[in-house]
Amino acid sequence: MNHFGYRAGRLYAEDCAIEDIAARAGTPFYCYAHATLERHFSVFKSAVPEGSLIAYAVKANGNLAVVSALGRMSAGADVVSLGELKRALAAGIPPQRIVFSGVGKTRVELEAALDAGIYEINVESAPELELLAEIAAEKKTRATIAIRVNPDVDALTHAKISTGKGENKFGVPMADVPALAARARELKALDLAGLAVHIGSQITDLSPLEDAFTRIRILAETLLAAGHAITRIDLGGGLGVPYVTGNQPPPDPAAYGAMVRRIFAGLDVQLIFEPGRLIVANAGILVARVIRVKRGATRNFVILDAAMNDLIRPALYDAHHDVVPVREPERNAPWAEADVVGPVCETGDTLASGRRLPPLSEGDLVAILSAGAYGAAQASEYNTRPLVPEVMVKGTDFAIVRDRPRYEDILARDHIPAFLR
Ligand code: LLP
Repeated sequence: MNHFGYRAGRLYAEDCAIEDIAARAGTPFYCYAHATLERHFSVFKSAVPEGSLIAYAVKANGNLAVVSALGRMSAGADVVSLGELKRALAAGIPPQRIVFSGVGKTRVELEAALDAGIYEINVESAPELELLAEIAAEKKTRATIAIRVNPDVDALTHAKISTGKGENKFGVPMADVPALAARARELKALDLAGLAVHIGSQITDLSPLEDAFTRIRILAETLLAAGHAITRIDLGGGLGVPYVTGNQPPPDPAAYGAMVRRIFAGLDVQLIFEPGRLIVANAGILVARVIRVKRGATRNFVILDAAMNDLIRPALYDAHHDVVPVREPERNAPWAEADVVGPVCETGDTLASGRRLPPLSEGDLVAILSAGAYGAAQASEYNTRPLVPEVMVKGTDFAIVRDRPRYEDILARDHIPAFLR
């Protein structure tokens, strides 16, 4: 459920008319509904065992307003870079609720994680384990770690966001974990507290998750039997969300929570979750204006002022996002098929292909739905199109939570060297 809907023929985000926001922010812009963030977080929280840490995956949407809103609801943060660590801390997430994941953490990042005193570093390889031990020893401190396991399970999702198969770069192969745990015990600067797993994103079938979690439970028991004090298990993120209205919805958090409770029943550990998409995807829309409607030789095009640089998911993952007009269509309006495209000079700049749409003309506003996760977060300035602003709505209030950069600032980042002058 989200908080975007028509009232008297106009699209609203909570109690704010999108047209009013567009008048202030200009288009395109991302718009987030605080009430949806709150709802999704609380639904997830009540689905998982009490005492679990819900470490929101900052990569899905790192806007400080979003992270801080979730932090106020008791969320922690799953971060994967120094930048995300800084975001989480700046948004007020306590270090004791921050988990650091990622396959290529640098020395600088590991140092920053130790300095901040975060809850756990999820180690993904033997060399990373050695480096972390060395850094912690230098700093005369101890690092609390989990070993991220690669369970060799196919998440049955898009190949580009599948992370749990043996051939993927992530995690430590199951068979190597006992030896790595034994090595961690030798290294006095390390405290091995748990295991972690994350097999992919936009997972719409619980069975691969169940398979992976079962393997992790067995592995945890093996480590416990070997005398390791395993007290936490991080189950990652990955639960899918509905993108296509009318399609079979993915399993809801309650079904996921029930499965998790069943798999880990009787094991005395704290569970950690790293949901990203589930919390923010349907809490955000991308609002754009129609620049022009164009008739091609064989197709019709609705050309928007938003493009693949603002929302790359359709180009990168063949992702579907519903597109709706901000003015509710008349009951008998003649719908027709069109491609919804941006102005970027690539055919890949297609936000929706062969979509049935109500009549749209120049100047009309449209909303691209379910764009709160991996939308603004993956935007770029390709074609020197400034990153678009982000707006958060809460009831009748809204605020611009990221400014649109000025062209001067964009150009000022480049330098023409002396030898060209
Ligand atoms: N934890 C780890 C270690 C991850 O790698 C990810 C996502 C998450 C948690 C959060 O997963 P979620 O709950 O959001 O599925 N850009 C792609 C998705 C990439 C996901 C990367 N890792 C997309 O737009 O579909």
